[in-house]
Amino acid sequence: MNIAKRKNDLKFGGGPNNLTHGFVPTMGALHDGHKELIRTARADCEFLTVSIFVNPTQFAPGGDFLEYPRTVEQDITALRELKVDQLYIPATDEIYPQGTMVNITLEPIEHLLEGAQRPGHFSGVANVVLRLFNIVRPTRAYFGEKDAQQLIVIRKLVTDLHLPVEIVGCPTVRDSDGMALSSRNVFLDPEERVQAKSISRGLFAAQDAFSSGELSSDFLRDVVRKELEPNNLLFTEYVSLCRPGSMDEVLGECEEGDILSVAVRLASTRLIDNIRLRNRPGSN
Ligand code: PAJ
Repeated sequence: MNIAKRKNDLKFGGGPNNLTHGFVPTMGALHDGHKELIRTARADCEFLTVSIFVNPTQFAPGGDFLEYPRTVEQDITALRELKVDQLYIPATDEIYPQGTMVNITLEPIEHLLEGAQRPGHFSGVANVVLRLFNIVRPTRAYFGEKDAQQLIVIRKLVTDLHLPVEIVGCPTVRDSDGMALSSRNVFLDPEERVQAKSISRGLFAAQDAFSSGELSSDFLRDVVRKELEPNNLLFTEYVSLCRPGSMDEVLGECEEGDILSVAVRLASTRLIDNIRLRNRPGSN
């Protein structure tokens, strides 16, 4: 595996080539969710690059940037096992050279939902992903549906700026108890972990109600809230049912494909999860 700490050490980083070049950008601390993205990309692409870069611009001032888990040696072993061709681990001043002036913003979706809770977050994500795409020059890039709004933001970035890369969304990988895998799960103590399970339980209960014919968005949001409420360590930031694309909150009846999403805080750990409603009766 080629390990490049500078862009000049990247293979295919700039020159034209005819290979399918897959790219999986990450912030490291790799878990099975990341690994599944990488496996999918590996099976699809002739050449595969993964990046590890804990991007400072997507963290709020005073957020968990410094505490974010960093396990680079372990990650390198995992990436070798997954037969990744190339790992890019840039320094911050390579991605954002001194005097950087260009800044991507996305109106209005960077201010909705996750963006409302984390001002500047999606601008930070769009800025780093655009820079990484320009450096790595992949033909396809893989992102998890776990971060549903991020995937929408990236698709918009690519469409609006005509970026020559195909975006592939991959399903959320969950633990056997239903909990979505996340690098931040390591911060949960056993009691918090038990309470965190109510997030996926609520989402699945709402999905069951939808596939049994319940279309009211208020009702489905309430199904989720009722699972979350009894948990005394858990603070709910939002329960949302939105339409993909515009990300407008659904006020009346839901449709197949609408996104039900949750953000909570458990002590100082912030967790998000979502599902896309499917199997509306009579939809097939
Ligand atoms: P990170 O949180 O490391 O996630 C890297 C990729 O893994 C993202 O596309 C994310 O959606 C996906 N992922 C995380 N948990 C997953 C799960 N349980 N199932 C499926 N996919 C999962 O997302 C980022 O990094 C950053 O914002 C980044 C895009 C790298 C830009 O800095």
